[in-house]
Amino acid sequence: MEIRKVGVIGCGLMGSGIAQTCAQAGYETIVREVAQDFLDKGMARIQGAWDMMLQKGKINEEQARDYKNHLRGTLDTKDLADCDLVIEAVIENMEEKLRLFPALDNALKPEALILSNTSSLNITQMGAVTKRADKVCGLHFFNPAPVMKLVEIVRTISTSDETVETVRAFAKSLGKTPVVAKDTAGFIVNFLLIPYLLAAIRMYENGLASKEDIDTAMKLGCGYPMGPLTLLDYVGLDTTLWAAEALYEEFKEPLYAPSPLLRRMVNSGMLGRKSGRGFYEY
Ligand code: CAA
Repeated sequence: MEIRKVGVIGCGLMGSGIAQTCAQAGYETIVREVAQDFLDKGMARIQGAWDMMLQKGKINEEQARDYKNHLRGTLDTKDLADCDLVIEAVIENMEEKLRLFPALDNALKPEALILSNTSSLNITQMGAVTKRADKVCGLHFFNPAPVMKLVEIVRTISTSDETVETVRAFAKSLGKTPVVAKDTAGFIVNFLLIPYLLAAIRMYENGLASKEDIDTAMKLGCGYPMGPLTLLDYVGLDTTLWAAEALYEEFKEPLYAPSPLLRRMVNSGMLGRKSGRGFYEY
């Protein structure tokens, strides 16, 4: 199946990065939000990234214009009716996804694929509330989506081989390297990353080292681009909490249990970079 027009649901941190990536790859891209101010904020983030690339000389004026011409925002799901592939990147809340998937199923043409960018929720369940479970799978991007080279294709027990192959070719056309994982909480990356991040929070919470030293240790000791507490702020503490909860729910292993500090920080609106405060201030 040839993909020409791509829809993205949600223009938050991940949705805007995914829409930016698709527009840059030359796809006619339409991103849907639920309110104009969310859409404006997301579109401004994308424009900011293109302005930065222009300033750095990574793209020229014509490319910047071309990228922009490939991207459009909307508040109406019906505008996605002729998309060949839609990627949802809405809040990590199962009830929200289970409302969205039947609505997309009704709005989209029958042959369109519906992909979820969820980092740990059950995609099989999302497919099951549509009449096209064979055309549903995960396509999980990493933050910042335009930069990080990996995507996880998440195959449910109902996803067809044809869907996996179409999504694999699509991922490569975005300049990404796809890996395929089964639909179990955390897939590959978060199954390994979340316990590491939670351990770093526990270490800080128990006063075993300062936050700066924990970050410096993992950056310089392991060659990671960011220390775990900086990465937590970057990913979002709310996103991490939801991922940890999903993993804990699935495996019931203490290493996935969110620590009291993480929960208290999210309760207090300390979500990391996006709220201006997390383990550090921004
Ligand atoms: N669009 C286009 N280019 C962008 C960009 C964007 N939105 N954001 C950054 N860039 C580019 C910059 O222009 C820069 O390019 P050059 O090197 O060519 O100048 C490059 O990316 C690196 O950016 P910076 O120079 O600003 O900063 P940096 O070198 O410190 O790198 C980073 C920043 C890429 C984020 C790096 O620190 C990193 O890789 N951090 C780890 C990120 C990570 O682990 N992400 C995964 C999180 S887990 C997740 O997302 C999954 C989940 O479900 C929780």
